[in-house]
Amino acid sequence: MLGCVPARDHLALALDVPDRSAALALVERFGADFGVMKVGLELFLAVGPQIVRDIVSAGSRVFLDLKLHDIPNTVEHAARCAGEMGVWLLTLHTQGGPDMLAAGARGLSDGAASARRSAADAGSGAEVPIALGVTVLTSDADAPSEALIGRARLAERAGCDGVVCAAPDLAVVTDTVPGMLRVVPGIRPAGAPSADQRRVATPAAAIGAGADVLVIGRAVTAAPDPDAAAAAIVAEVAAALGQP
Ligand code: C5P
Repeated sequence: MLGCVPARDHLALALDVPDRSAALALVERFGADFGVMKVGLELFLAVGPQIVRDIVSAGSRVFLDLKLHDIPNTVEHAARCAGEMGVWLLTLHTQGGPDMLAAGARGLSDGAASARRSAADAGSGAEVPIALGVTVLTSDADAPSEALIGRARLAERAGCDGVVCAAPDLAVVTDTVPGMLRVVPGIRPAGAPSADQRRVATPAAAIGAGADVLVIGRAVTAAPDPDAAAAAIVAEVAAALGQP
């Protein structure tokens, strides 16, 4: 779905640290290699929502990975806040059902539209955000494939424009919802430890199977040489995309 864009635009770095300055240091250090910065539960709860605005101000796209799952009204209002802050990708749990997913997608888009309207430079660069339906967690080795198909269809019908899925699920997801953005965590370069992830793939294999955005955390942040690990991943993704 992302088409012919540089490797960097296919890469999201998971900022799984409990500290604002450590997170911003990762943005500064890896912003040239990773076009998207993922704020998840740990960082968001440790330092609060200002980190999202700070990363947007630093010029990176933000993937806010809070996997929202609540009543539709609550999710709509929370997603609206994310849209107002300039979030590009926001996760919603597909298990929340069609009304919740539709409310989340609507809130996100309304929040972004309202931010665009109130910005002095309206229309200059604010992106249309994408609500992502989380299908099956990459740590879950036992989920049946019917669950995956059902959740992907549900996300699409409810107005999400993307899904989060594991690399081994990409073929089924692409068949089921071909137009959706496919965001894939559980990425491990050859030889890297899988840790708690159960269904993993290398960067090249995930891109080859149709992933649009790879989510990468510990394979870079916990690597013995994080800069070398990041450079190797960028090179692997560029090669898989057929880019020089
Ligand atoms: O360190 P690692 O590369 O395993 O980090 C993966 C990141 O992707 C974590 O921040 C995790 O919360 C997130 N994620 C995931 N599986 C999903 C959705 C998000 O691992 N289905």
